[in-house]
Amino acid sequence: TTIYVPRDSAAASVGADEVAAAIRGAAREAGRDIRLVRNGSRGMLWMEPLVEVETDRGRVGYGPVRPGSVPGLIDSGMLDGADHELCQGLVEELPWMRDQQRLCFARVGVTDPLSTDDYVAHGGLAGLRAALEREPADVVAEVTDSGLRGRGGAGFPAGIKWKTVLDTPGELKFVCCNADEGDSGTFADRMLMEGDPFCLIEGMTIAAHSVGATEGYIYIRSEYPDAVDTMRAAIDIAYAQGWLGTDILGSGVRFDLSVRVGAGAYICGEETSMLESLEGKRGMVRPKPPIPAITGLFGKPTIVNNVLTLASVPTILSGGAQAYADHGMERSRGTQVFQIAGNIKHGGVFETAFGITLGDLVNGYGGGTLSGRPVRAAQVGGPLGSYVPAAQFELPTDYETFAEADAMLGHGGIVVFDDTVDMAAMARFAMEFCAEESCGKCTPCRVGAVRGVEVIDRITSGEEPDANLAALNDLCEVMTDGSLCAMGGLTPNPVRSALLHFAEDFGHVPTGSG
Ligand code: NAI
Ligand code: SF4
Repeated sequence: TTIYVPRDSAAASVGADEVAAAIRGAAREAGRDIRLVRNGSRGMLWMEPLVEVETDRGRVGYGPVRPGSVPGLIDSGMLDGADHELCQGLVEELPWMRDQQRLCFARVGVTDPLSTDDYVAHGGLAGLRAALEREPADVVAEVTDSGLRGRGGAGFPAGIKWKTVLDTPGELKFVCCNADEGDSGTFADRMLMEGDPFCLIEGMTIAAHSVGATEGYIYIRSEYPDAVDTMRAAIDIAYAQGWLGTDILGSGVRFDLSVRVGAGAYICGEETSMLESLEGKRGMVRPKPPIPAITGLFGKPTIVNNVLTLASVPTILSGGAQAYADHGMERSRGTQVFQIAGNIKHGGVFETAFGITLGDLVNGYGGGTLSGRPVRAAQVGGPLGSYVPAAQFELPTDYETFAEADAMLGHGGIVVFDDTVDMAAMARFAMEFCAEESCGKCTPCRVGAVRGVEVIDRITSGEEPDANLAALNDLCEVMTDGSLCAMGGLTPNPVRSALLHFAEDFGHVPTGSG
């Protein structure tokens, strides 16, 4: 019998390692021969640790399993897929799984992340093989035609970025993967790296071939030690298999890849700071232009993409651009890996075509708040994203539709709040966060964020609210227009949206003046 217990750090944080050990011990005692596979997480985080048992019918899930429940589960026949109060039925048929369109996350939770056999048996390498048979420019064109946009949040067309790198002459070019994932409420990059690391390696190798890059780095935040270990182990295996190195899959293409670990600064997720950090310097933002595609790492043409952008590439090359572009709406093509977090009953990862509404994600699949109270707002796109009030939950998730509503889809992180949230405190937090994480290079952000905290404090304490509100609006305008990067430039988003939709929380703001 094959039993799956996730090794993902979200599952491990709620006892998956202890559960795995308990299952091994109990099976031994029961005289049962089992094969225990440590898979990635399916992304149904409320069910973790989710144990799966391979049966004739498919994989039967049990969760959340505590080490103490293991003996009882085994006594009642879990190893044969028997019913139990923790039994969730066939995992693939649960609405959460069944209704997803998993392209990027197709293997996550299904396979053993470090098994090359599993990888290839589940479609791995098909994209790379297809790419290696084609000219670099054709690979770039395929990515352009798929409509893939940067999944780090900005949504810039990946194919256009790659074409810039391809068309820029250079003896040495780089592919850098941004795995700094500093946004609150986002964890999909981590889950992909822990659950299907070869997919990222494959995507980066395709990217390298498409622009003639020979070296690559994955910049992972230090808060992700398990992702660092898994990626490093996968890279070693990939070299041993000839999937990386001097003659990839016998094609003559060369690509070397390694992991670099950040030191805990949010700003190092901004691409130019990340490049500075990779060069061994302090993570400070560089002015753009020049863009990294032309003058990137060590001044060389460089692809900088997020984990999920690169991990979406193998499926585009194996299935074709059209199959990918068939998903989604308007200019948001393909799928988005939504991350539902905060005060939510059923939180986790949900990959589906763009266009699904926030309401379907939060109140539908997410099941509303964990507290059971009404949802008041969701912050979408990380700590620099706007607060979307529940009244706007019918908005389809599309980059442009969100932008028109003064919101931001970003990396697809959704943090849910119930009706007890104090939105003035959340606005203050945005400024506080910016003050804390600012790299200090430009004044609107470095000084503006500190003044922002002070002015919000004056508003909420009732000190000349009208004058201070005007000052806050001015400050937001200066930060938006005058900041060098998105850190200072986007911090006004949460502040303004809180003022606009939840003016009553600021106490002394006259109604309608938000
Ligand atoms: P941006 O719009 O300046 O650039 C997006 C990307 O396109 C960059 O890689 C840039 O170099 C590239 N680019 C722009 N023009 C180009 C051209 N003509 N040719 C080739 N490439 C070109 O946005 P930025 O500052 O890189 O990112 C801001 C976004 O980051 C925000 O919208 C936010 O959603 C997101 N973000 C994500 C975080 C996370 O943890 N994932 C954290 C903080 C912000
Ligand atoms: Fe640095 Fe903030 Fe200016 Fe960005 S906006 S360059 S983080 S000071």
